[in-house]
Amino acid sequence: MTVRLRAAVASSRYGPVEVLHDVNVEVAEGEIVAVLGANGAGKTTLLRTISGVLVKAGAAISLDGEDITRLSAPARVRAGVVHVPEGRRVFADLTVLENLEVPAVARRAADADRRACLERVYDLFPVLAERRGQRASSLSGGQQQMLAVGRGLMSAPRVLMVDEASLGLAPATTDEMFEALARLGAAGLSILLVEQNARASLEIAARAYVLERGGVRLSGRAADLLHDERVASTYLGGHLATTGATGATEG
Ligand SMILES: Nc1ncnc2c1ncn2[C@@H]1O[C@H](COP(=O)(O)OP(=O)(O)O)[C@@H](O)[C@H]1O
Ligand SMILES: [Mg+2]
Repeated sequence: MTVRLRAAVASSRYGPVEVLHDVNVEVAEGEIVAVLGANGAGKTTLLRTISGVLVKAGAAISLDGEDITRLSAPARVRAGVVHVPEGRRVFADLTVLENLEVPAVARRAADADRRACLERVYDLFPVLAERRGQRASSLSGGQQQMLAVGRGLMSAPRVLMVDEASLGLAPATTDEMFEALARLGAAGLSILLVEQNARASLEIAARAYVLERGGVRLSGRAADLLHDERVASTYLGGHLATTGATGATEG
């Protein structure tokens, strides 16, 4: 499979405090890759480094083989690196449709392009179509999260990076969210998924990286990590589906 996104982060810091060191992450075309790790491990910092909002990073980022390291954060979005940040930051006073149109207007999308993107979002999250005329503030938390992901899709991403999409959602809504992400992956979108819901994300991901204190502790195929004792004890509540050999590599 062709590598879509490659991030080689030698170091990423807030002021004098180094958060990430030697983190190398790849996402292939149409691949879902999960980034797991405890609170404070550096997951959000990794996404911010890739999206370019964290400028104090010694990182080389490439998209479809092209070096985008020198691009500003908005230029990276235009190139197709789209970050849905944690915390459903939708425009509360705008309607659902207006929220979705903001990124399309920002990139001066042609009408046909805008309509195709909207259709994809509505197909994925039918409740957003039903509520297109309502203010975002009237949506439930789960629907706002769908809107946040939908807005990301309106930027026509080549890589969609989603930070904690399921945080605080009810179980049924969480299932719906993961199903939607799995469908996007199956349709060819590359997704980098940061999640505290380790089990659900390993179930839809092809591969995963486990971050610990700013470094990659483990990486490998999601199916292997689901059955890795180290992952199970720390991130899956100690429950292993089955025990057995693992293809996960350390470090
Ligand atoms: N704006 C910031 N300024 C200083 N330190 C920060 C800032 N944001 C995060 N950190 C620190 O960086 C580390 C990694 O944070 P973060 O990337 O948010 O972790 P995660 O998303 O895995 O929970 C933590 O120790 C956190 O305290
Ligand atoms: Mg975070």
